[in-house]
Amino acid sequence: MSAQLDPVVLNDWFVVSAAHTLLPGEPLLTQLLGVAIAVWREADDSLHAARHGADEVCGKYKVCERYGYIWVSLGKPVRDIYSLPEFTQPGRRFVDCGSFGVKASGLRIIENFLDMGHFPFVHTDILGKEPHTEVKDYKVETDAETQELWATECRFWQPRAAASATDGLDVEYTYRVMQPFTSALYKTCPTRADERDVIGLYVQPVSEEECKVALWMLLFDDMHTDGELIAFQQTIFGQDKPILESQLPKLIPLDPRSEIPTRADASSIAYRRWLREIGLQYGVQKAA
Ligand SMILES: [Fe+2]
Repeated sequence: MSAQLDPVVLNDWFVVSAAHTLLPGEPLLTQLLGVAIAVWREADDSLHAARHGADEVCGKYKVCERYGYIWVSLGKPVRDIYSLPEFTQPGRRFVDCGSFGVKASGLRIIENFLDMGHFPFVHTDILGKEPHTEVKDYKVETDAETQELWATECRFWQPRAAASATDGLDVEYTYRVMQPFTSALYKTCPTRADERDVIGLYVQPVSEEECKVALWMLLFDDMHTDGELIAFQQTIFGQDKPILESQLPKLIPLDPRSEIPTRADASSIAYRRWLREIGLQYGVQKAA
Protein backbone atom coordinates (compact mmCIF):
# COMPACT_ATOMS: atom_id res chain seq x y z
CA MET A 1 0.00 0.00 0.00
CA SER A 2 1.34 3.39 -0.93
CA ALA A 3 0.56 4.83 2.53
CA GLN A 4 3.30 2.64 3.97
CA LEU A 5 5.86 3.36 1.30
CA ASP A 6 9.18 5.00 1.94
CA PRO A 7 8.44 8.71 1.29
CA VAL A 8 11.61 9.07 -0.79
CA VAL A 9 10.18 6.76 -3.48
CA LEU A 10 6.52 7.55 -2.81
CA ASN A 11 7.08 11.18 -3.83
CA ASP A 12 9.40 10.50 -6.75
CA TRP A 13 8.70 10.01 -10.46
CA PHE A 14 9.21 6.65 -12.22
CA VAL A 15 9.12 5.66 -15.86
CA VAL A 16 6.61 2.88 -16.57
CA SER A 17 6.47 2.84 -20.38
CA ALA A 18 7.93 4.26 -23.55
CA ALA A 19 5.50 6.98 -24.67
CA HIS A 20 5.07 5.65 -28.22
CA THR A 21 3.88 2.26 -26.99
CA LEU A 22 1.02 3.64 -24.84
CA LEU A 23 -1.85 3.93 -27.29
CA PRO A 24 -5.45 5.00 -26.67
CA GLY A 25 -7.62 1.97 -25.88
CA GLU A 26 -4.65 -0.14 -24.78
CA PRO A 27 -4.15 0.45 -21.03
CA LEU A 28 -0.91 -0.67 -19.44
CA LEU A 29 -1.34 -2.88 -16.37
CA THR A 30 1.84 -2.96 -14.37
CA GLN A 31 3.26 -2.81 -10.87
CA LEU A 32 5.23 0.06 -9.37
CA LEU A 33 6.77 -0.14 -5.89
CA GLY A 34 4.60 -3.15 -5.13
CA VAL A 35 1.38 -1.35 -6.14
CA ALA A 36 -0.71 -2.67 -9.06
CA ILE A 37 -1.47 0.24 -11.36
CA ALA A 38 -3.17 0.93 -14.66
CA VAL A 39 -1.88 3.66 -16.95
CA TRP A 40 -3.79 4.75 -20.01
CA ARG A 41 -4.06 7.37 -22.72
CA GLU A 42 -7.46 8.70 -23.73
CA ALA A 43 -8.44 9.51 -27.31
CA ASP A 44 -7.84 13.22 -26.53
CA ASP A 45 -4.20 12.28 -25.67
CA SER A 46 -4.67 12.94 -21.94
CA LEU A 47 -2.82 10.54 -19.62
CA HIS A 48 -4.21 8.82 -16.53
CA ALA A 49 -2.92 6.45 -13.86
CA ALA A 50 -4.78 4.73 -11.03
CA ARG A 51 -4.57 1.74 -8.75
CA HIS A 52 -5.51 -1.31 -10.72
CA GLY A 53 -8.40 -3.31 -9.30
CA ALA A 54 -9.53 -0.52 -6.99
CA ASP A 55 -13.33 -0.49 -6.64
CA GLU A 56 -13.51 3.23 -6.95
CA VAL A 57 -11.39 5.85 -8.59
CA CYS A 58 -9.80 7.12 -5.40
CA GLY A 59 -6.26 6.18 -6.18
CA LYS A 60 -5.51 8.31 -9.20
CA TYR A 61 -1.87 9.12 -9.53
CA LYS A 62 0.15 11.85 -11.15
CA VAL A 63 1.28 10.95 -14.64
CA CYS A 64 3.07 12.86 -17.39
CA GLU A 65 5.01 12.37 -20.61
CA ARG A 66 8.63 13.54 -20.78
CA TYR A 67 11.70 12.63 -22.83
CA GLY A 68 9.85 9.94 -24.79
CA TYR A 69 8.53 8.09 -21.73
CA ILE A 70 5.50 7.95 -19.44
CA TRP A 71 6.27 8.88 -15.83
CA VAL A 72 4.10 8.12 -12.77
CA SER A 73 4.32 9.24 -9.16
CA LEU A 74 2.35 7.42 -6.48
CA GLY A 75 2.63 10.38 -4.07
CA LYS A 76 3.18 14.11 -4.22
CA PRO A 77 6.31 14.77 -6.28
CA VAL A 78 8.61 17.13 -4.46
CA ARG A 79 10.34 18.29 -7.63
CA ASP A 80 10.01 18.35 -11.38
CA ILE A 81 11.56 15.69 -13.60
CA TYR A 82 15.24 16.34 -14.19
CA SER A 83 16.66 18.50 -17.00
CA LEU A 84 17.81 16.80 -20.24
CA PRO A 85 18.54 19.51 -22.84
CA GLU A 86 20.11 16.95 -25.21
CA PHE A 87 16.62 15.55 -25.85
CA THR A 88 15.78 18.49 -28.12
CA GLN A 89 19.29 19.11 -29.48
CA PRO A 90 19.19 19.21 -33.31
CA GLY A 91 20.86 16.23 -34.96
CA ARG A 92 20.62 13.86 -32.01
CA ARG A 93 18.69 10.64 -32.44
CA PHE A 94 16.56 9.43 -29.59
CA VAL A 95 16.54 5.63 -29.54
CA ASP A 96 14.23 3.62 -27.29
CA CYS A 97 16.24 0.41 -26.75
CA GLY A 98 13.39 -1.47 -25.10
CA SER A 99 12.72 -2.69 -21.60
CA PHE A 100 14.17 -5.63 -19.66
CA GLY A 101 12.65 -7.44 -16.70
CA VAL A 102 15.35 -8.15 -14.11
CA LYS A 103 15.01 -10.14 -10.90
CA ALA A 104 17.22 -7.79 -8.90
CA SER A 105 16.89 -4.64 -6.84
CA GLY A 106 16.75 -1.58 -9.07
CA LEU A 107 19.50 -0.06 -6.96
CA ARG A 108 21.84 -2.88 -8.03
CA ILE A 109 21.12 -1.95 -11.67
CA ILE A 110 22.21 1.64 -11.15
CA GLU A 111 25.25 0.66 -9.09
CA ASN A 112 26.39 -1.70 -11.86
CA PHE A 113 25.75 0.97 -14.51
CA LEU A 114 28.17 3.28 -12.67
CA ASP A 115 30.92 0.67 -12.41
CA MET A 116 33.64 0.76 -15.08
CA GLY A 117 35.68 -1.98 -13.41
CA HIS A 118 33.57 -4.79 -14.89
CA PHE A 119 33.94 -3.73 -18.54
CA PRO A 120 36.91 -5.98 -19.53
CA PHE A 121 35.48 -9.03 -17.77
CA VAL A 122 31.75 -8.80 -18.60
CA HIS A 123 31.78 -6.84 -21.88
CA THR A 124 34.95 -8.37 -23.25
CA ASP A 125 36.06 -7.03 -26.66
CA ILE A 126 33.30 -4.39 -26.62
CA LEU A 127 33.57 -2.06 -23.62
CA GLY A 128 36.86 -3.44 -22.32
CA LYS A 129 39.64 -5.92 -22.86
CA GLU A 130 42.49 -7.24 -20.77
CA PRO A 131 45.12 -6.01 -19.99
CA HIS A 132 43.35 -2.60 -20.07
CA THR A 133 41.70 -3.12 -16.68
CA GLU A 134 42.75 -0.02 -14.77
CA VAL A 135 40.04 2.34 -13.52
CA LYS A 136 41.85 5.65 -13.29
CA ASP A 137 40.98 8.12 -10.55
CA TYR A 138 37.99 10.36 -11.20
CA LYS A 139 35.93 12.98 -9.36
CA VAL A 140 32.61 12.33 -7.64
CA GLU A 141 30.45 15.14 -6.26
CA THR A 142 26.88 16.08 -5.45
CA ASP A 143 25.49 19.10 -7.30
CA ALA A 144 24.48 21.59 -4.59
CA GLU A 145 21.52 22.92 -6.57
CA THR A 146 19.94 19.75 -7.98
CA GLN A 147 21.25 17.21 -5.44
CA GLU A 148 22.23 14.98 -8.37
CA LEU A 149 25.33 12.78 -8.05
CA TRP A 150 27.99 13.32 -10.73
CA ALA A 151 31.16 11.36 -11.51
CA THR A 152 33.40 13.27 -13.90
CA GLU A 153 36.76 12.86 -15.65
CA CYS A 154 36.29 9.08 -15.94
CA ARG A 155 38.44 7.47 -18.63
CA PHE A 156 38.54 3.92 -19.92
CA TRP A 157 40.06 2.26 -22.98
CA GLN A 158 37.42 0.44 -25.04
CA PRO A 159 37.81 -1.85 -28.06
CA ARG A 160 34.37 -0.95 -29.46
CA ALA A 161 32.86 1.93 -27.50
CA ALA A 162 29.72 2.29 -29.64
CA ALA A 163 28.09 0.87 -32.74
CA SER A 164 29.69 3.77 -34.63
CA ALA A 165 33.22 3.07 -33.32
CA THR A 166 35.63 1.63 -35.90
CA ASP A 167 38.64 1.13 -33.63
CA GLY A 168 39.68 1.07 -29.98
CA LEU A 169 39.20 4.39 -28.16
CA ASP A 170 40.33 5.94 -24.91
CA VAL A 171 36.81 6.93 -23.89
CA GLU A 172 35.85 9.74 -21.54
CA TYR A 173 32.81 9.25 -19.39
CA THR A 174 30.66 11.40 -17.17
CA TYR A 175 28.09 9.64 -15.03
CA ARG A 176 24.99 11.30 -13.65
CA VAL A 177 22.53 9.96 -11.06
CA MET A 178 19.42 12.12 -11.23
CA GLN A 179 17.19 10.02 -8.96
CA PRO A 180 17.88 6.85 -6.95
CA PHE A 181 16.57 4.72 -9.87
CA THR A 182 17.57 6.99 -12.78
CA SER A 183 21.01 7.42 -14.29
CA ALA A 184 22.69 8.46 -17.53
CA LEU A 185 26.20 8.59 -18.87
CA TYR A 186 27.84 10.94 -21.32
CA LYS A 187 30.65 9.34 -23.31
CA THR A 188 32.98 10.21 -26.18
CA CYS A 189 31.03 10.31 -29.44
CA PRO A 190 33.06 8.40 -32.08
CA THR A 191 31.67 10.53 -34.93
CA ARG A 192 31.62 14.03 -33.33
CA ALA A 193 34.67 15.17 -31.36
CA ASP A 194 32.77 18.12 -29.86
CA GLU A 195 29.83 16.11 -28.57
CA ARG A 196 29.06 13.27 -26.17
CA ASP A 197 26.68 10.39 -26.73
CA VAL A 198 24.11 10.06 -23.94
CA ILE A 199 22.97 6.65 -22.72
CA GLY A 200 20.51 6.26 -19.89
CA LEU A 201 18.51 3.92 -17.73
CA TYR A 202 15.07 4.31 -16.22
CA VAL A 203 14.49 1.66 -13.58
CA GLN A 204 10.92 0.85 -12.57
CA PRO A 205 11.01 -0.93 -9.22
CA VAL A 206 8.26 -3.53 -9.57
CA SER A 207 9.06 -4.64 -6.03
CA GLU A 208 12.11 -4.36 -3.81
CA GLU A 209 13.74 -7.34 -5.53
CA GLU A 210 12.44 -7.04 -9.07
CA CYS A 211 12.49 -4.29 -11.65
CA LYS A 212 12.06 -3.30 -15.26
CA VAL A 213 14.87 -1.42 -16.95
CA ALA A 214 14.20 0.90 -19.87
CA LEU A 215 17.30 1.66 -21.94
CA TRP A 216 17.60 4.77 -24.11
CA MET A 217 20.17 6.68 -26.12
CA LEU A 218 20.59 10.15 -27.58
CA LEU A 219 23.24 9.80 -30.27
CA PHE A 220 24.88 11.38 -33.26
CA ASP A 221 24.96 8.44 -35.65
CA ASP A 222 23.85 8.62 -39.28
CA MET A 223 25.22 5.21 -40.27
CA HIS A 224 23.24 2.67 -38.28
CA THR A 225 19.60 1.71 -38.25
CA ASP A 226 17.62 1.84 -35.02
CA GLY A 227 17.69 -1.97 -35.05
CA GLU A 228 21.49 -2.06 -35.15
CA LEU A 229 21.82 0.51 -32.36
CA ILE A 230 19.26 -1.30 -30.22
CA ALA A 231 20.98 -4.65 -30.79
CA PHE A 232 24.29 -3.16 -29.59
CA GLN A 233 22.78 -1.93 -26.31
CA GLN A 234 20.75 -5.10 -25.79
CA THR A 235 23.90 -7.18 -26.21
CA ILE A 236 25.60 -5.13 -23.48
CA PHE A 237 22.66 -5.37 -21.10
CA GLY A 238 22.17 -9.04 -21.84
CA GLN A 239 25.70 -9.60 -20.54
CA ASP A 240 24.94 -7.69 -17.31
CA LYS A 241 21.56 -9.30 -16.57
CA PRO A 242 22.62 -12.74 -15.27
CA ILE A 243 25.28 -11.15 -13.09
CA LEU A 244 22.79 -8.68 -11.63
CA GLU A 245 20.33 -11.46 -10.89
CA SER A 246 22.95 -13.52 -9.05
CA GLN A 247 24.15 -10.73 -6.74
CA LEU A 248 23.61 -11.32 -3.03
CA PRO A 249 22.24 -9.98 -0.82
CA LYS A 250 19.27 -9.10 -3.03
CA LEU A 251 18.72 -5.79 -1.25
CA ILE A 252 21.56 -3.32 -1.28
CA PRO A 253 23.42 -2.90 2.02
CA LEU A 254 23.95 0.77 2.86
CA ASP A 255 25.61 0.30 6.23
CA PRO A 256 29.29 0.66 5.32
CA ARG A 257 30.15 -2.02 7.91
CA SER A 258 27.77 -4.62 6.49
CA GLU A 259 29.50 -5.37 3.20
CA ILE A 260 33.09 -5.07 2.08
CA PRO A 261 32.88 -4.69 -1.69
CA THR A 262 35.18 -7.10 -3.51
CA ARG A 263 35.90 -4.26 -5.91
CA ALA A 264 36.22 -1.07 -3.94
CA ASP A 265 34.82 1.19 -6.62
CA ALA A 266 34.58 4.93 -5.98
CA SER A 267 31.27 5.36 -7.77
CA SER A 268 29.66 2.48 -5.88
CA ILE A 269 30.80 3.90 -2.57
CA ALA A 270 29.61 7.38 -3.57
CA TYR A 271 26.26 6.08 -4.78
CA ARG A 272 25.62 4.20 -1.53
CA ARG A 273 26.64 7.24 0.52
CA TRP A 274 24.31 9.43 -1.59
CA LEU A 275 21.43 6.97 -1.01
CA ARG A 276 22.11 7.12 2.73
CA GLU A 277 22.11 10.92 2.65
CA ILE A 278 18.73 11.15 0.94
CA GLY A 279 17.33 8.63 3.42
CA LEU A 280 16.26 5.95 0.94
CA GLN A 281 14.77 2.82 2.52
CA TYR A 282 13.12 1.05 -0.43
CA GLY A 283 15.29 -1.74 -1.86
CA VAL A 284 17.76 -1.27 0.98
CA GLN A 285 18.81 -4.08 3.28
CA LYS A 286 17.27 -3.43 6.71
CA ALA A 287 19.50 -3.35 9.76
CA ALA A 288 19.65 -6.69 11.60
FE1 LIG B 1 27.81 -3.76 -17.72
